[in-house]
Amino acid sequence: MQVIKHINDLRKILSGKREEGLIIGFVPTMGALHQGHISLVEKAGQETDYVVVSIFVNPTQFNDKGDLERYPRDLQKDVDLLAPTACQLIFNPEADEIYPEPDTRQFDFGMLEQVMEGKFRPGHFNGVAQVVSRLFDIVQPDKAFFGQKDFQQLAIINEMVRKLKLPVEIIPCPIIREADGLAMSSRNMLLNPGQRQNSVLISATLSEATNKTTELNVEELRSWVINRINKNEYLNTEYFEIVNELTFQPVMNWNDPCMKVGCIAVQCGKTRLIDNIEFKN
Ligand code: PAJ
Repeated sequence: MQVIKHINDLRKILSGKREEGLIIGFVPTMGALHQGHISLVEKAGQETDYVVVSIFVNPTQFNDKGDLERYPRDLQKDVDLLAPTACQLIFNPEADEIYPEPDTRQFDFGMLEQVMEGKFRPGHFNGVAQVVSRLFDIVQPDKAFFGQKDFQQLAIINEMVRKLKLPVEIIPCPIIREADGLAMSSRNMLLNPGQRQNSVLISATLSEATNKTTELNVEELRSWVINRINKNEYLNTEYFEIVNELTFQPVMNWNDPCMKVGCIAVQCGKTRLIDNIEFKN
């Protein structure tokens, strides 16, 4: 497994692999890796011949400077974690390699970027689209792997690929959870023991909510989830929405035949946690 810092070196290696006829798989990450990331790498290993993982904390997607500064970074630990996996190359560029000049591109994702993460983190998805389109251009993968943990991000990436007609297949991967149910996240390591213990209430509440659709209507269930979480002194819900999985419009009625997903963002001290769960009809 190689760690490559420069685009030119990466391109040379990858064009050789392509000439050998290998299918290239790509897993973009911001490092501070955990088993959620590793599950994407393993899936990439099953579906492609040569797996590239990028580790780059992308400044343009952080609307909160403090969040960018606090974001955990430990390259050596990430390299050690990836060594026994299907990953064959780590791309770990500096910011000026990705952005030799400021990226001024503005993407328009319509409704997709106006709700939930888009609403509460203005500019976030524009930054995600900037970096992912740039990384796709550099790596030119056949398939790229994204987690459903970031459900709205996955929809944004699909929309970007569709709009720009990029020659890459996007493969969604399921959420990986800790033993107690908390969705794995690089930010979990920022939680103190009390916060970590109480954060389990987020996934527990979502999971319980899926069993309440016969007794509560959509609006009642929304309030039930928010109230239950906010009663906990460590947690403060930023939003909880039950939306159409494709349009991200709020669902009004359980009878609506669309696929429904409940998406939540919760502030736990200074750390922001997100999760989601599917509501089956
Ligand atoms: P990051 O948060 O490092 O996540 C990288 C990938 O891992 C994303 O596709 C994310 O959805 C997935 N992932 C994270 N936690 C997961 C979990 N518990 N289960 C399954 N998949 C999980 O998302 C980003 O980085 C950035 O926005 C990026 C796409 C790299 C652009 O900078």
